[in-house]
Amino acid sequence: VNLKPYNTFALPAVAKRLVRIREAADVRRVVDHPELGRAPKFVLGGGSNLVLTKDVEAVVLKVEIAGIRLLEERDDAWIVEAGAGVVWHELVTWTLDHGFPGLENMALIPGTVGAAPVQNIGAYGIEVKDRLEAVEVMDLVTGRPALLPAEVCRFGYRDSVFKHSDFGGLAGKSVITKVRFRLPKPWEPVLGYLEIERKMAETGITAPDARQIYDWIVAVRRAKLPDPAVIGNAGSFFKNPVVTAEQCKDIIGRDPGIVHYPMPDGSVKLAAGWMIDACGWKGKAVGGAAVYEKQALVLVNKADARGAEVVTLARAIQESVYGRFGIRLEPEPVVV
Ligand code: EPU
Repeated sequence: VNLKPYNTFALPAVAKRLVRIREAADVRRVVDHPELGRAPKFVLGGGSNLVLTKDVEAVVLKVEIAGIRLLEERDDAWIVEAGAGVVWHELVTWTLDHGFPGLENMALIPGTVGAAPVQNIGAYGIEVKDRLEAVEVMDLVTGRPALLPAEVCRFGYRDSVFKHSDFGGLAGKSVITKVRFRLPKPWEPVLGYLEIERKMAETGITAPDARQIYDWIVAVRRAKLPDPAVIGNAGSFFKNPVVTAEQCKDIIGRDPGIVHYPMPDGSVKLAAGWMIDACGWKGKAVGGAAVYEKQALVLVNKADARGAEVVTLARAIQESVYGRFGIRLEPEPVVV
């Protein structure tokens, strides 16, 4: 099976075997299968956080579990449950259409519902962990289901228990089948991001509702992030590095313009996009892989790129940022 249509970077790679998972019980069937049961497995969601550099030997489990419903209405929250195969943005839109706001700041993030907790996706002041109630998984060895409350998912910045295979991590050990979201009542807007404040100033709207925020975010993202359906990409390619206040002072001493955000714990988050941009990478390319012209943190597939070209470009960026700022950028997507 050609995996090019199944990864948003549109990188070429072949999977020997691909099994579609349309319901949780399908995972059980794979586990009980005489051949597939013992083979290594590779879980594929929307493929929006993936850099494929070679063919995949493992059995690919393509998660396509559908369905969204209001599971429960509590005094303090709506609990919405969605299948792991639901397109993330469709969930955000559905919740707003049905009067359950709370996900609007994360509108238009590429990928599926099942991939959202893996990465702890986030944008404009909200991360998925802030709206997550529980994750339903199937164990890839026993074929048994489990419901993991948010507290055990070890969420961090673009990180979770699902991204690691050591220290009790669940990467490669389980498949996310459904996700339950907790949308707090009464709804309160999450503002304060520069782009949202700019929209408020432009329109004169001081108390936007959820739909208004959704529309703004969709517009902001469309203006500066490439649509994977048009130009292949995996969103931000690097995480924003977190440094100590001291390290940051050092860097500011040399580069006063660096964009940085003080964190509650005293550390400082640096804008990786700014650093890459400052090193002159916007628009630069290696083969078909390039740095997006409007956002240096995003690498794109300009013309039939191969995974190896993306990796070469990423390494060159890492070296040049290290050379100038002494900081090692960490890739965000999973490199296979
Ligand atoms: N900047 C530049 N040049 C660039 C890119 C950015 O100078 O080429 C500056 C911007 O002007 C801004 C700062 O760097 O002052 C930060 O840029 P931006 O606001 O675009 O956000 P980001 O830090 O690059 C993060 C997330 C995005 C998320 C946005 C909004 C990460 C790795 N990325 O990007 O998430 O949408 O904030 O919340 O945390 C993703 O993870 O795939 C993703 C797109």
